[in-house]
This record gives sequence, C-alpha cells and structure tokens, in this order.
Amino acid sequence: MTVRVDLNGLLAAAVGGSGLAAEELAGLEPELARVRDELAARRAAGTLAFAELPHRFDDARRVLDDAAGVGADIDVLVVLGIGGSALGARALVSALGERPGSRRVIVADSIDPDDFGALLGQLDARRTLFNVISKSGETAETMAQFLVVRDRLLHELGAVDYKHHLVVTTDAEKGVLRQIVNDEGFRDLVVPDGVGGRFSVLTPVGLFPAAVAGIDVEELLAGAVYVDERARAAAAPLADPALALAGALFLLATRHAKPILVLMPYCTRLAATADWFCQLWAESLGKARDLAGRTVEWGQTPVRALGAADQHSQLQLYVEGPPDKVVLFARVEDHGAAVDLPTTYQDLEGVGYLGGHSLGELLNAEQRATELTLAKRGRPSATLVLPAVNAFTLGQLLYLLETATVAVGALAGIDPFGQPGVEEGKRLAYGLMGRPGFEANRAEMEAWLARKDARFIL
Ligand code: PA5
Repeated sequence: MTVRVDLNGLLAAAVGGSGLAAEELAGLEPELARVRDELAARRAAGTLAFAELPHRFDDARRVLDDAAGVGADIDVLVVLGIGGSALGARALVSALGERPGSRRVIVADSIDPDDFGALLGQLDARRTLFNVISKSGETAETMAQFLVVRDRLLHELGAVDYKHHLVVTTDAEKGVLRQIVNDEGFRDLVVPDGVGGRFSVLTPVGLFPAAVAGIDVEELLAGAVYVDERARAAAAPLADPALALAGALFLLATRHAKPILVLMPYCTRLAATADWFCQLWAESLGKARDLAGRTVEWGQTPVRALGAADQHSQLQLYVEGPPDKVVLFARVEDHGAAVDLPTTYQDLEGVGYLGGHSLGELLNAEQRATELTLAKRGRPSATLVLPAVNAFTLGQLLYLLETATVAVGALAGIDPFGQPGVEEGKRLAYGLMGRPGFEANRAEMEAWLARKDARFIL
C-alpha cells in the first residue's frame, strides 16, 4: 500500500526540451541534501512541529476518546472554520467519510448568508454538534459563524444544554476563542504549538472531525509515519519521494518557466484533497520576500482540475495553450467500488468496446491518455500513484505533499509558514467592520474607496 511518485512524465526523455534532463535533477542533489539537513536540524531543535505530528500518538488517542464521547443523539458534526481550519477536515471526510453507517460531517467554510443560512435551516440543533475551529481564535468568518450558532443553540436548547452541542478547537493559551472557552466552559481540543492552519490536518483540527466520521485516524498517522520512515531510509535525497518531487517541481518552476502547477486527481474522492493542496502550495510558497528580506515574489500558482471531467473542459488549454504548466496527476490503481460495464451493443463498435471493462478501468485509461497527450506536446507531468484510497494511503499522500511543500520553500529560500499577505486583508476587513484598534485600516479602506473613479464603474 505504498504511494509512489512517478516523475517519468516530466523528464526530457518523455517530453523533450521542456522537461528535466536526468542530469539536471541529479545536479540538484547537493541542494536537496542541504534541505534535508536543514529540515532534520529544525526537527531536532523542535521548530518543525508539523513534521512530528504523525508521531504524537497520545494526542491521537485523546482525539479518539473525545470522538467516542460524542453521544448517540448526535447525527451530524458541523465544522465551523475557514482556510487551513476547514480544508484538511474536508479532504479527509470527502475521501474516507460518508460511508454507510458513518456519521455525517459537514464542513461549513462559507459565510455566504445563502449557504450558511440554508445549512442552519436544515439542521436539527438537538442532533447536531458544532466544532468551531480557529488557531488564532479570532478569524472574523469563523467567529461570525460561532456567534450565529451559539445564539441559535442557546435559544433552542437553553442555557445548560446548548454547551453540549459545541466543541472548540483552538490554541492552548492565546486568542479570544480560548478566553471564551475558559470563561464559558465549552469542551475543547488544542491545536499544537507551532502548527499553522494549512499544516494542521493531522492535529485535532482534522483528526477530530475525521474520527467522528468513523475514519481510522491511527491508520492515517501510520501512513504519514511510513512516509517519514521512507525518507529516513532513503540513501540519497533523490530517493526520498517528497524531496524528489520538490526538487523536480522547483526546477520546472525556476528554470523551465512553469509558474503554474495543476493538480489533477482522477478520483472524485480526492477532489477535496486537491483543494487542500492548492491552499497549502499557494499560501506556503507565494511570498514577496526571501529569508534574507530580499524581494523575490516567489510562488507557483496551483490549479485544481478533476479527471476525467476536466479533460472536456480545461485540458484543451493545457495541451495547446501557453506551455507554462506542469500537471501533477493523482491516480488510484484500485477504485474499490467496481462498477462493471455491461456487454451490450456488441455490433456497434463506437460503444461495444466498453463492455466487459469497469468504470475504474476507463477512468485510469483516461488518465494515461491525458499523460501521453500532454507528453506528445512537450507538456510535463508527474503522477502520484495510490494503490487505493484508504486511511493509510491518504495519510501518506498528505504528509508527502506537506513535506514537499516545505522542501520547495527551503529550496526557494522562503518561509513557508507565514502568510503576511492574508493577514493584511484580515486587518482591512476588521477595520471596515469597526473592530477597535483597526481605525487606521478603516481609514485606508475609505480612502481607497473614495479614489474610485465613477467613469470606470459602468
Ligand atoms: O493556513 C492558514 O494559516 C490559514 O489558512 C488559516 O488556517 C486561516 O486563515 C484560518 O485561521 P484560523 O485557524 O486562525 O481561524
């Protein structure tokens, strides 16, 4: 059940001059060795918290206990969070949850009144548990959801019972949400120190919703540990799948003018994992400055596509449009649910050939066809190959992609863990909404709005 990284499709041998010569990749080996040493040193110093998460079995057991404590009266868990506090849980639940007999988990990362209002309208408060997730404990969208939900629970269930329908996941000490938990006594889970939202899928942020959905979180962690062990056992950096992937994508971005990375799973259950990855790649690697403070405006734009549907939508652009993309496929060898194609219309060659195959076979044939179509046009691709989608392989995939992201950050000399660009927007929104202390941001926003020229508002 090993997840493999197949880099063949991005080598010059497959795609010609736009691809990587094997020697070019080999030439990056010293840099990758530097990255490997740097990451190992940070782990030893305790400053690379995400990397240690798979080994925190006690935390996982606590999450399992908390999930087991969710009463039989609860049918639905609703996650209230946004960005890294939502996408990991959604990736896990979309890939592995929603099975017969499992509890429903809904990730509500929308503050669109239509969506959120409609969702609340459908739910029976008595049978719903809300998991408010915010590392900072003050993200406006999440806090707004919390206010609405708390108010509704209080009115419908009364001042004692409403608390049983809220679990808060936040920092152990900091933030307004922590203060509220301490004051009001909600059940709580802790986001470990040093782990930011987009790296938190293997903390209670992702694991609690996963466990409530009946997902085997110990297997998820075992998958991540397995990737870590493969990395440790790798004789050379290029034998470590995450580092090899990072190195290849870094070279394509920097030396082969590939500023766009398309992640294209051929598996609907992995579509949300692709969304999770897009946030990870974009928010971690899109940075104005390098570690020395120089302006670099680094990044590679991630795009999510889904096979086979996007073969009939985006693929034309990828094959014939600007040659500025590298495609990362996710391919699943065994799709599990076999849906066989009946042997019908044998006399009609345009459809009869399908009989006797399965939908999974067709999906995988489409993936191979796309890979070769791209290669024939000199468009590089790599493939993440999952033997099947289960907790062990998903744990591998998530950890491998997190590690590759951090490694690309180290190759590019940028900090993958901050998000100063996002923070700026948060401050401006606080200002507009009248949060005390953000008056200057409000003034800046008002000046921006006042400068709009009516002639260009058509
Ligand atoms: O990855 C990140 O750090 C962000 O996407 C955050 O998860 C997002 O902004 C939500 O932040 P918080 O968890 O503090 O509410």
